[in-house]
Amino acid sequence: MTLVIAMDGPSGSGKSSVSKGVARALGLRYLDTGAMYRAMTWWMLHEGVPVDDPAAIAARAGEPDLNSGTDPAAPTITVDGVDVSGPIRGQEVTGAVSAVAAVPAVRERLVALQREIIGAGGIVVEGRDIGTVVAPAAQVKIYLTASAEARAQRRSAELSGASITATQADLARRDRLDSTRKVDPLAQAADAIELDTTSLGLDEVIEEVLRIARK
Ligand code: CDP
Repeated sequence: MTLVIAMDGPSGSGKSSVSKGVARALGLRYLDTGAMYRAMTWWMLHEGVPVDDPAAIAARAGEPDLNSGTDPAAPTITVDGVDVSGPIRGQEVTGAVSAVAAVPAVRERLVALQREIIGAGGIVVEGRDIGTVVAPAAQVKIYLTASAEARAQRRSAELSGASITATQADLARRDRLDSTRKVDPLAQAADAIELDTTSLGLDEVIEEVLRIARK
């Protein structure tokens, strides 16, 4: 398998920016698996599927046609041909995504799609379960962490000034939901290298990942 870099970690740990930067530096493709769970959630809401009903979600999980563009300079995601890159970052999707992502039929379908996209490799893949479930054979596994405060600060800056306290509460709620599943997708792969990014700048984290990948 050519190079696969698995970049896991909780919300606001810097996964997306770091993954894109590393992919660009190494000329690799880039896959945001969180965007796929968000796109599936967007579709369920759009179709009026009750997102608090796992059986209803499971029954429809095979329907939407999801397409992820893998250019790190311009990642895209479409559902049935519609570009949903904007709406999947909205509050409605963010509030429902953990519940949708907890449905086994959703995970089975998306993990299979993710493995198809990874194919022979040459890609940086970011998510929660990449090093453990999606690509356990990845040659490089990174687990990014940061303090709860730093994560909330970064996320609220991305959401152009959302309150830090509210953002921190939302991240804590999702971390809790995301880590109380049967298979904890926030579990760290035993062979992952943990990087605490609390006091590091983006470029410093990218440099560190590149150093690890070159070893
Ligand atoms: O970056 P942020 O944490 O806001 O979220 P994301 O990476 O866009 O992922 C959104 C949600 O999708 C997470 O809260 C998880 O519930 C779910 N997810 C997952 O279960 N497995 C993944 N590999 C990626 C995301």
